[in-house]
Amino acid sequence: MKVRKAVIPAAGLGTRMLPATKTVPKEMLPLVDKPVIQYIIEEAVAAGIEDILIVTNRAKSAMDDYFDYYPELETRLNQAGKEKELCEVRRAADLANIFYVRQKETRGLGHAIWRAKRFVGDEPFAVLLGDDIMKASVPVTRQLIDAAEKYSASAVGVQYVATEAISKYSSVKVSPLEGRVFQVSDMNEKPTPEQMLSNYAILGRYVLTPEIFDILENLSPGYGGEIQLTDGLKQLCRTNPMVAVDFEGRRYDTGNLNGFLEATIDFALGHPQTGDWLRRFILDKAKHL
Ligand code: G1P
Repeated sequence: MKVRKAVIPAAGLGTRMLPATKTVPKEMLPLVDKPVIQYIIEEAVAAGIEDILIVTNRAKSAMDDYFDYYPELETRLNQAGKEKELCEVRRAADLANIFYVRQKETRGLGHAIWRAKRFVGDEPFAVLLGDDIMKASVPVTRQLIDAAEKYSASAVGVQYVATEAISKYSSVKVSPLEGRVFQVSDMNEKPTPEQMLSNYAILGRYVLTPEIFDILENLSPGYGGEIQLTDGLKQLCRTNPMVAVDFEGRRYDTGNLNGFLEATIDFALGHPQTGDWLRRFILDKAKHL
């Protein structure tokens, strides 16, 4: 089992980040010096992915433009001797083979993934949710691929979350397999603390086998009246092997303001251009808070 393809659903309306996301796709908001979507693509590439499909909508063409060449700008940077900037602008366009499909209707995450059926064909594939940014020494997608390959199974990336927070996620019923890897037998989307199956929540990373597409095609709307990927995975894990990986790394939900600011501060602290300055700035600020 070799995972070469990834799907990035990025068709959400960004309603938790308004008004900034009224005309700028939330995936294009800058985290320090790069748009959010670039971190996701870089993780996929670092995990060994070659072909990437972004599921978009009619308001997201800035994303396609970003991963394209921009001859006028590149010529200008070249003439001005701005080699570093030129290199960065080019690098974004050369990261991977990127394909696009539009979701056309906002019908939920499961429906967005179903739109990838023709791109994926008959291969296992990774899914990286566009809002979930990871900071990890081994790319989280790689951690999942390793487990999926080892067990010839689908894999979902999970972490332990507090009971009060579980209703923001899907909860997974797990039994121990080995180390940080568990066997999955059930899951539910946005459970109440009474309904939750465990404190392990899926956090934005998956490796799926193509059997998921037939399931998604026939799925009825679930939580929020939308076609939920979790409902599809619940069926998949009954008939096909599925593991959960308690991944190593820190996850940021950049789809809401607090998560976005946490990521901005952490990434800026780790950035060679801004780290030292920001540390001094924060320490100075803290004295006067
Ligand atoms: C989605 C998924 C959910 C998952 C969450 C975090 O929810 O439906 O199962 O736990 O992402 O990755 P959303 O954040 O879109 O409401």
